[in-house]
Amino acid sequence: MRGISLLLPLFLIMALILPGAALAGEINWNKAGASKISLFYPGVTSWEFLTSDDHRLGGREIKQGKKDCKHCHLSKEGELDLKADEIASGTVKMKRSHNPFEPEPLPGKKGLITAKVQAAYDNDYMYIRIEWDSKGAGWQKKASKGLPDRVSLQINKSEVAFKKYGCFITCHNDLSTMPNSPSRKEVVSNGYYGSQNRDDVRLYAYYARTSWSERKPQGELDKRIKDGGRIDLVSAEINNGEVAAHDGWIMDDRKWEDKTSVEASGSYGDGRYAAVIRTKLKSTDKFDIQAEDGDVISVGMAIHEDGVEKRKHYVSFPFTVGLGANADVRAEKISR
Ligand code: HEC
Repeated sequence: MRGISLLLPLFLIMALILPGAALAGEINWNKAGASKISLFYPGVTSWEFLTSDDHRLGGREIKQGKKDCKHCHLSKEGELDLKADEIASGTVKMKRSHNPFEPEPLPGKKGLITAKVQAAYDNDYMYIRIEWDSKGAGWQKKASKGLPDRVSLQINKSEVAFKKYGCFITCHNDLSTMPNSPSRKEVVSNGYYGSQNRDDVRLYAYYARTSWSERKPQGELDKRIKDGGRIDLVSAEINNGEVAAHDGWIMDDRKWEDKTSVEASGSYGDGRYAAVIRTKLKSTDKFDIQAEDGDVISVGMAIHEDGVEKRKHYVSFPFTVGLGANADVRAEKISR
């Protein structure tokens, strides 16, 4: 065994030992409570579908901002009540338009997965630990196509629509890899994207754009941002045994920031990933949320695996994380 570990390249040993010791190792996760969060394969489910007649009763309720996703799609036992397997296998169609929920099914893709989610905080940081069953493709080798394995969290404290509908308020029919995505040529010739040498349309909040090409007036955006409408985005990306943290935001666009105030660590064993994402509670970065004792934060989770394209991920309904407060996932304060 010792002989083998001596043969391992140094970076691999560091990847296996260091990130865990620097972050997750400081917290005794055995003591922290754990919640089961379900994730499902959404296919091309978009905000436009969710607010349309195709979504029947759901469409009406969401347009009026009334019932949340969980109200109709989560059983009393906490099980997801959704045709997720049928979406993944491409066998279910939308009720009115008869458009497929998944026009390009991936062979053998499961509709549902569950993650174990734990959280903790101290004076300076919040820690979210996510554990899930996986083939661990990204742990063993670099992604040759699509995205590396990763878990991403959209985080927001005050936006009511996010609290009810989570990531779905940022997912649209005209995003890159979605059915009504504009052509690369169209995107490049748009003033906004063209000025950034961009040919892709990324996540945006429904209240920040009326469509991929049309941004809401700056005054309206500024007000919404002031009221907490910008969504913080953090991600732990696992590639070739290394874990990288990404820090970004979503409003009228989705951007990753060059400078990250987020750290991430991770490991793979017994057919499961465990990733810990650490965010600053009092970040001075205007694109990060600020949080303190007693706060209840809304989180939407996405997991990408097996080198899938952008939209072909698992997603959760929004859940809450409470800092010393009751929530779907309760974080206890730890002293360090
Ligand atoms: C008022 C209740 C209600 C709410 C709120 C609601 N839905 Fe639905 N949803 C439905 C109904 C009813 C159907 C269609 C069932 C049928 O006709 O087969 C449906 C269908 C779906 C489907 C298609 C797969 C399936 O199981 O039929 C998806 C995906 C979906 N909803 C996602 C969501 C998401 C995401 C949210 C929150 C953003 C949400 N729903 C909110 C009631 C609701």
